[in-house]
Amino acid sequence: MKLTLVCLATCVLLLATVFVSCQSESEIEYKQYYSIGKSVYQNQCQNCHAENGEGLAGLIPSLQKADYLSKNKSKLACMVQNGLQGLIVVNGKFYNGKMPAQTQLAPIEIAEVITYITNSFGNNQGVYGLEKVSLDLKGCN
Ligand code: HEC
Repeated sequence: MKLTLVCLATCVLLLATVFVSCQSESEIEYKQYYSIGKSVYQNQCQNCHAENGEGLAGLIPSLQKADYLSKNKSKLACMVQNGLQGLIVVNGKFYNGKMPAQTQLAPIEIAEVITYITNSFGNNQGVYGLEKVSLDLKGCN
């Protein structure tokens, strides 16, 4: 009886180890980006876009299920780094405000915060990697 229990415990432990080590590298990368991105968001974006991404009616666009995020995927890095102004349409609503530049952010932080917003608030776009950010930043105008 005791032996069976010990065997069982060992089996469970073994399975758990296999499960943890089976987490793919990209999954680990995603989790890292997401959690650091969340703190970048809290420090640099939340003041305006609100904790839950809802923005401020008529003034600050919402990030919740925002069509703008998927339609402008390759422009997000430039937008975060250099700010944004002028007329935009987000989920059918018009905004004509000004988002300040955040040139102090490193490309990796830009990747992390974009990964956070594009996978929170009802969005689901997967990881936005550092390589993509570097590529996209080269194309800023
Ligand atoms: C000072 C307020 C302010 C801060 C801080 C700010 N934003 Fe914005 N953001 C705005 C405004 C205003 C707009 C709309 C600009 C326009 O009308 O052209 C905007 C637009 C956007 C958009 C495109 C529209 C949408 O809803 O999808 C994204 C994405 C975005 N911001 C992400 C961020 C991220 C990420 C950060 C932090 C790194 C951030 N913003 C910080 C005010 C801000």
